[in-house]
Amino acid sequence: MELLQKNVQRAKANKQRIVLPEGLEPRTLQAADRILADGIAHIILLGNPAEIQAKAAELGLKHIDQAEIIDPQNHARREAYRDLLMELRKSKGMTREQADELVVNPLYLACLMIKSGDADGEVAGAHNTTGNVLRPALQLIKTRPGLKVVSGAFLIFSPLKEYGENGFFIFADCAVTPNPDSNELAQIAIASADTARSIGDMEPRVALLSYSTKGSAKSEMIDKVTEAYKIAKEMAPDLLIDGELQADAAIVSKIAELKAPESPVAGKANVLVFPNLEVGNVAYKLVERLGRATAVGPILQGMAAPVNDLSRGCSVDDVYNVITITCNQAIAAKK
Ligand code: ACO
Repeated sequence: MELLQKNVQRAKANKQRIVLPEGLEPRTLQAADRILADGIAHIILLGNPAEIQAKAAELGLKHIDQAEIIDPQNHARREAYRDLLMELRKSKGMTREQADELVVNPLYLACLMIKSGDADGEVAGAHNTTGNVLRPALQLIKTRPGLKVVSGAFLIFSPLKEYGENGFFIFADCAVTPNPDSNELAQIAIASADTARSIGDMEPRVALLSYSTKGSAKSEMIDKVTEAYKIAKEMAPDLLIDGELQADAAIVSKIAELKAPESPVAGKANVLVFPNLEVGNVAYKLVERLGRATAVGPILQGMAAPVNDLSRGCSVDDVYNVITITCNQAIAAKK
């Protein structure tokens, strides 16, 4: 896909350090090998070096010797990271014993490396659950200034080129926050617009979706969306955003003319923000399966530095793409 190629080119031109906590996971290792061969990122693998080298040899990989390998049990900065962890979690009552235990957990270690400036981004989740990947990131890296909520976006490539940006959309939140309030929904919209710019190479036109268009129905659920619209407009007055809109009014110009003729976004939205996680997660999976769209993600947005969670059913290509996207997020986060 042309868009992913652009992300590859940007990553190559400004190499980022990406830490992979699941250093022994075969698809992760295969993707790391290709990333190194293509010169896309500096790769840091966490795990026992002898075991990683043996696995790489078994898989016939030729470039893993270019990666930095850190053994969580045995490395020079273990105490420094342990102290940082205690400091960051002292308000939560973390003891030295707890920190000693967590600092050797690769998912915590990866976040501590990012927090210390020793890595620029993390990709994990081929082996671990979403919750286990996200928790340390939410606890240690936290959100970027101005935002309090992390969300998960999908890049959706539809074969129907008449919709969105030539068939391309950002969908969010499809992965993280179960039931955002209006404030959080506004922040998800702002973060999704940023993702559209930094990863999607497009100027965002954001639709806050609901089952009503511009007052056609009334309920507390709709009030949440209209309130989110007002908050997002205050946060980013120049952003092209509208809501509440039904999905057809958001993306089909003929329906938009009927239902929301005054809207700057209706009929041509390229960023779709769902009212809660249930809707977002169900919607992207249906579009992928019944609409034959390609869905890339989830891309976590709103974090102070990028951490991305893979699906446990991911392919080597998925891991490669997510590492490339993480590099681009890291580049954008430093601007
Ligand atoms: N944004 C920012 N910070 C958050 C968020 C969020 N969305 N959610 C939790 N946090 C912070 C909390 O403030 C807390 O910080 P603190 O410890 O410094 O006070 C910390 O993260 C832990 O919060 P908990 O609520 O205790 O975290 P918990 O572990 O219960 O849950 C999680 C967080 C894992 C993200 C949870 O909300 C979750 O499981 N979400 C759904 C994930 C999921 O299953 N998605 C669908 C599958 S993915 C897919 O299909 C593509």
